[in-house]
Amino acid sequence: MMKVAVLKETFPTELRVALVPANVPQLAKVGLEVVVEAGAGEAAGFLDAHYVDKGAKIVGRDELFSADIIAQVRTLGANKVAGRDDLAKFRKGQFIIGMCDPLGEPGSAVEIAETGASLFGLELIPRITRAQSMDVLSSMATIAGYRAVLLAAIELPKIFPMLMTAAGTLTPARVFIVGVGVAGLQAIATAKRLGGVVRAYDVRPACREQVESLGGKFVELALEAGDAQDKGGYAKAMGEEFYRKQRELMASVVAESDVVITTAAIPGKQSPLLITADAVKGMAPGGVIVDLAIERGGNCELSQADTRVVEHGITILGPTNLPSEIPNHASQMYSNNVTKFLLNLVKDGKVALNLEDEIIRDTLVAHDGQLLNSRMRDILGMEPLPEPTPE
Ligand code: NAI
Repeated sequence: MMKVAVLKETFPTELRVALVPANVPQLAKVGLEVVVEAGAGEAAGFLDAHYVDKGAKIVGRDELFSADIIAQVRTLGANKVAGRDDLAKFRKGQFIIGMCDPLGEPGSAVEIAETGASLFGLELIPRITRAQSMDVLSSMATIAGYRAVLLAAIELPKIFPMLMTAAGTLTPARVFIVGVGVAGLQAIATAKRLGGVVRAYDVRPACREQVESLGGKFVELALEAGDAQDKGGYAKAMGEEFYRKQRELMASVVAESDVVITTAAIPGKQSPLLITADAVKGMAPGGVIVDLAIERGGNCELSQADTRVVEHGITILGPTNLPSEIPNHASQMYSNNVTKFLLNLVKDGKVALNLEDEIIRDTLVAHDGQLLNSRMRDILGMEPLPEPTPE
């Protein structure tokens, strides 16, 4: 039987686990035995005994590396320092599955390729219907969007809902969500559930309906976004002139808001600067900004990674690992994604590298000692690989 190893995550602050006990029987059915490092799921609420109950084996860390498949939340690129310790243990013929920050840290995939192991970068799951159940970025962004609103609610010196009490009427918090992707949509839904009055903006006008269906108001800006979406469903980068205008037009909406949550991201690019220090200054004291785009530089000029910044009476948060702050459900979602990915990859108890399958082709970044992904090669200034010649 092929073995899938579940490692305890080594990235500081990482509390998630790549596979949870509930998925073990599904994997056993297709011929995959799950071996788990002792304590791997503990921080997320999944005890060794739960894994054993579902048919997994608990083993020591060194033994895990003999497995055919290694499942991680953060493999080297997404775990730059501690992830190095794994490198010497990866081996030829092994498959590593995890998040590796492919476009941010493409060099790490080259290092994994050099060990002879193959790497699947789960961030590269295409946004197609068949792959929805495997899309780790979407599931983690869902958790992040939810958590961002809760963080803001705690920081805000006001409550979210409107309250009419004997002690007077409290007006509801005004929340502005910038970027209505997965994280943004969940932030809208969460802020609405808390009773806030929610507005949202995105360069993709197609979002309007989604915003309205969640009870938010879509903000119109006099901007010509044109074709803002690529064929993968992600936003394209706009020109600097567009961003300058957007900053200007959005400043008044920011000024009218108690809470601003920014999620505007362009895959593989720096996040656009959308809220200047001046716009922050325009907010009423006590306001809160949560910048989810911080990992790629952030959407707000004043945000700093994992630091609580207070400027002009406004609190600005730039948390980089929100899914790990809700480790139980985040692990459950991640594990479901990994399981669906494995069920698509493994045929008759063996890894079937069917490169006709877009999901496998797009995620397989390193194989046979080589970096396969052309975008990553391009970022590293490597020559494109020759097209395979038809037989
Ligand atoms: P997504 O790609 O689904 O959504 C991003 C949205 O931003 C898209 O709808 C896009 O059209 C929009 N956008 C791009 N440029 C814009 C602009 N100039 N103005 C307004 N909207 C613009 O991404 P997703 O999955 O929702 O993730 C959003 C962000 O949250 C990403 O930066 C992601 O890395 C981050 N994230 C952060 C986490 C954390 O712990 N900090 C955890 C998970 C995700």
